[in-house]
Formats: sequence, C-alpha cells, structure tokens
Amino acid sequence: MTVPAVSRYAPWGPTSVRHRRHVLDLDDFSSDEIQAVLDNAVSMKEILGRSVPQVPILRGKTVVNIFYEESTRTRMSFELAARTLSASVSSMTAKGSSIEKGESLIDTIRTIQALGADIIVMRHHESGAPYLAAQHFKGSIINAGDGRHAHPSQALLDLFTIRERLGRLAGLNIVIVGDIIHSRVARSDIWGMLRCGANVTLCGPSTLIGDTTMWQATFPNLRISYTLDDLLPDTDVLMALRIQKERQQAGLLPSLREYSNDYGLTQERLDRMPAHAIVMHPGPMNEGVEIMPEAAISPRSVIEAQVTNGVAVRMALLYRLSGEPTATT
Ligand code: CP
Repeated sequence: MTVPAVSRYAPWGPTSVRHRRHVLDLDDFSSDEIQAVLDNAVSMKEILGRSVPQVPILRGKTVVNIFYEESTRTRMSFELAARTLSASVSSMTAKGSSIEKGESLIDTIRTIQALGADIIVMRHHESGAPYLAAQHFKGSIINAGDGRHAHPSQALLDLFTIRERLGRLAGLNIVIVGDIIHSRVARSDIWGMLRCGANVTLCGPSTLIGDTTMWQATFPNLRISYTLDDLLPDTDVLMALRIQKERQQAGLLPSLREYSNDYGLTQERLDRMPAHAIVMHPGPMNEGVEIMPEAAISPRSVIEAQVTNGVAVRMALLYRLSGEPTATT
C-alpha cells in the first residue's frame, strides 16, 4: 500500500505547481514536487559556490523569522538563504519581544503583516501554531519546527543530502533511531522518505516509539524494530535522533548508559554497515549518548553536509514561494 497523495492533515489538497503558498509539512508534497525542490536546491548550491553568492530572486520581498523556541541551524540558514536571494530579512525571538508582554500569536502575525512581511518563517513550541498563523497571514508561512509535529525544511535537507550522497532515494533502506515519539524531524522525514520510495524503519525502545498501531494506520509501509544491530548490514542510511535527558527523568528510559549500549552509534556499529552507507543527525547532538564522537566525525558522517545543504534547500523553498499563489494553494 502506498502513502496517499493527500492526507487529512492537508485539507487544501496537493500542490504540484511550481508556486505554493505555505510550507507547513511534507504531507501535501507529491514525490514530483519534492524532487523539484531538490533539483532547485542543486541550482541554489551552485549559486552559493560563486565568488559573489547573491541573486535578485527575492529583491523587494521581506522575510521575517519569528522563533518562539531556540535554534541555531534552522534560523541561521533561513537568514542566509533569504539574504542570498536579496530579500530584506528581519529576525525576532520571543525573548525581548512583545510576546513576553503577553501578545497573542495572532496579534503578532497581524503586526508583522502590517510591517510588510511577505514570508514568515516560524518556529513554535506548540504543534499546529504555523497552521493558525497561516489562517491569519496574507503572505506565506514556512514551518521551521512546531512542537512535536513537523519540521519540513529539515526533512527536505535530509532528502537532498541522501540523494546527493547516494544518488537516489527510491529503494534505499533508511533507519531512524532514537526518540521517535517526540521528534518533529522524524515525522516530516517519514512523509518525505516514504513518498520518495524509500523503505523506512523506526528503531528504538518501545517507550520512545509509541503506539505502533497509530504509526501503521498513518504509514502502512513503515517498519518498526526494537533492536538496531540486526538492521545494520542492510542499512543505507542511519539517522540518529537526539535523546533528551528529561526522557530518563520521565521514566521512558532505564538509563542513558543503557540506551547508549543498545542504540548508540558507535564506530563498531558503523563498521557493520555496507561500505556506501551514511550516518545522519539533524542536530543538536548529545555526543556520548545517541552518537559517539568518533561516529559523528567518521567518513560515513554527513552531519556537516546536512547543515551546509540546509541553506540551499531553504533558498529553494523561498524561491518556490516567491511567485503568485494559485487557487489551490
Ligand atoms: N535541526 C534543527 O532544527 O536544529 P536547530 O534547532 O539548531 O535549528
């Protein structure tokens, strides 16, 4: 069974045209649209390699980053992406803004609209907040991570990096290991990877994977494994997710040491993968817990490439939002 082209999370329907209005998750991206974004990102990466990396695609447009939660990679790469495309860029965090005085999300969005924003890049601790913002903003919203729900630009840069390194996505065996249940990255990756024809296995202790029936109701082709070692010889892509120390305090893990023994990415585990296999991590990493320092910098690791590619992929997204929206978007 294949993943349906339109999910109940995307009531406005699929968007196969070049211009879409919002990027809220990958559930409303067709395989063709994902491949088109990745193709655009190849061109954007070429621009970033020029001696003067700047093009006028977003000249006259204003991009506002609003981050209600901490970020290093996503925020900086959206800023760099927008500047490379010649947009006016403004960034704000909840701290130090009128949000601290109790201004509501809707009032903040209306204020930013009144200031002339065309595109808002938004990270929020509440799942669904960018969807609410999209209902009140006349321009475009890009979800830069909402609660445990979605992180579509991270998933697209993950897909780009895999395709760049391994030449394809279809048919690859991808294992995502770690704190799946709390991971917005995992959710968006699963949508994108399955839609592009990859085989995806979630791996970790049952307390961090959650209800398998729920997973398989949404993603019938998804595989689930509670042991990592058996998967390694057939794994093309191994992605570790951050383990937050609070998970142990919440009783979801007996100990971080035990987690590390069973699921940590060690050099010894990497040695059991095929020669071409790669290791990924969306960051930030807890080195010594879900990934050992030697694995993070091993020749298999593409973790720094993920960060670098994030700028090109976010340029591609901004480019695709820069045109006139169609009736279906
Ligand atoms: N991967 C990711 O979202 O990192 P940041 O929290 O640093 O943006």
